[in-house]
Amino acid sequence: MDTNKSISIIGGAGHVGLPLGLAFASKNFNVNLIDINTKSLSLIKTGKMPFYEVGAKKVLKNCLKKKKLSFSKNIKTIEKSKFIIICIGTPINQNLKPQTKKFFSFFKNLSKFVNKKQIIVIRSSVYPGVVDKIFKQYKEINQNISYCPERIVQSKALVELKKLPQIVSAKNIKSLLESKKLFSKICKKILIAEVKEAEMCKLFSNANRYINFSIANQFYSICKKHNMNYSKVREIMMHGYERNFNLLKAGFTAGPCLLKDTMQLNSFFKNNFKIGHSAMQVNEGMINIVIDEIKKIKNYNKKKYGILGIAFKAETDDTRDSLSLKLYSKLKKMKLKINFSDEYYKDKMNLNKNELVKKSNVLIIGAPHKAYSRLKIPKNKILIDIWD
Ligand SMILES: NC(=O)c1ccc[n+]([C@@H]2O[C@H](COP(=O)([O-])OP(=O)(O)OC[C@H]3O[C@@H](n4cnc5c(N)ncnc54)[C@H](O)[C@@H]3O)[C@@H](O)[C@H]2O)c1
Repeated sequence: MDTNKSISIIGGAGHVGLPLGLAFASKNFNVNLIDINTKSLSLIKTGKMPFYEVGAKKVLKNCLKKKKLSFSKNIKTIEKSKFIIICIGTPINQNLKPQTKKFFSFFKNLSKFVNKKQIIVIRSSVYPGVVDKIFKQYKEINQNISYCPERIVQSKALVELKKLPQIVSAKNIKSLLESKKLFSKICKKILIAEVKEAEMCKLFSNANRYINFSIANQFYSICKKHNMNYSKVREIMMHGYERNFNLLKAGFTAGPCLLKDTMQLNSFFKNNFKIGHSAMQVNEGMINIVIDEIKKIKNYNKKKYGILGIAFKAETDDTRDSLSLKLYSKLKKMKLKINFSDEYYKDKMNLNKNELVKKSNVLIIGAPHKAYSRLKIPKNKILIDIWD
């Protein structure tokens, strides 16, 4: 086997690791997917995606057929690979602080199996300074450390990997050149940056998006308080007026990345990232707007409720940090009768959308999956739709 074409991806069954592995395997790399989630690995082995990803099923089947994928839960199997790409999660804790300790202890364990020649590519979104710290930890072990952040939008990784410029940064020339060469096999354009710049680019990108959504959500809440339609106001504002073209639609701004990375930045800035903090309050507060709407309904506690879409956004099955799911839990706590339906998320409690409409007096759009635009909601039902 050509070792130059061998890659181990740690976190290889995850939302970032798996599509990346498929992209490299499609370019004839031998990809070893390493993950502690053996359930997901077993699914992948049999050609099934553990989550929804546009176009991935076909690519996976092809890669399996060509025998370009191997699987392991054992980190020792990195031995055979030239490249080791780290795609494990970098969550924040309940106090919205980054759990960097876990990430460092992962690297401590990894150090037992790494050799001096291998190229270590960190792809997870990290707290600024983390890459430098690992580099120092690895002084005697391996100096070929690069940071190449992932910037895809979830569920469209395979589409976007080809299109988006890839930021490549590294701690030495060897890893910079090797990482550049590696990513140029799957991406069109490479952008070189300093490691700290790359760390910031990633967090700023997510914070920028998160804040932009919060502006729309804040405008929505102002309109709501004054019985106005934000969508209509937005449309008028944007009509023939380019300076407003960046104004987004309102909705539940959630998921595993935007809030998390905005809070990583807040921690890094010693809790002084005021605009990020306010964005968090506005975005997370959107479920209270829905609850206020519910409380306005006559005999609201006797009605039957249905949430259409429980995923964190449209056209995904991912419910991580979903505001729709948080809303569901809150309404349950209020002892309201509530069911849900989702087009992608698989769960035994998931009802068919038409059945949910039939069963409910009040329908709430939790995630605006395309399928709901064709759904007929009878006039005698109440619809709460912050996405419009
Ligand atoms: N999801 C996205 O769209 C997205 C986009 C850009 C960047 N990111 C960043 O990429 C990183 C991964 O995110 P994700 O969404 O893929 O998370 P994920 O939870 O889907 O995947 C992480 C995978 O790592 C595995 N894992 C965790 N610890 C491990 C260990 N010690 N050894 C082997 N496997 C281990 C998990 O089992 C999981 O399958 C995060 O830092 C995230 O912020 C995510």
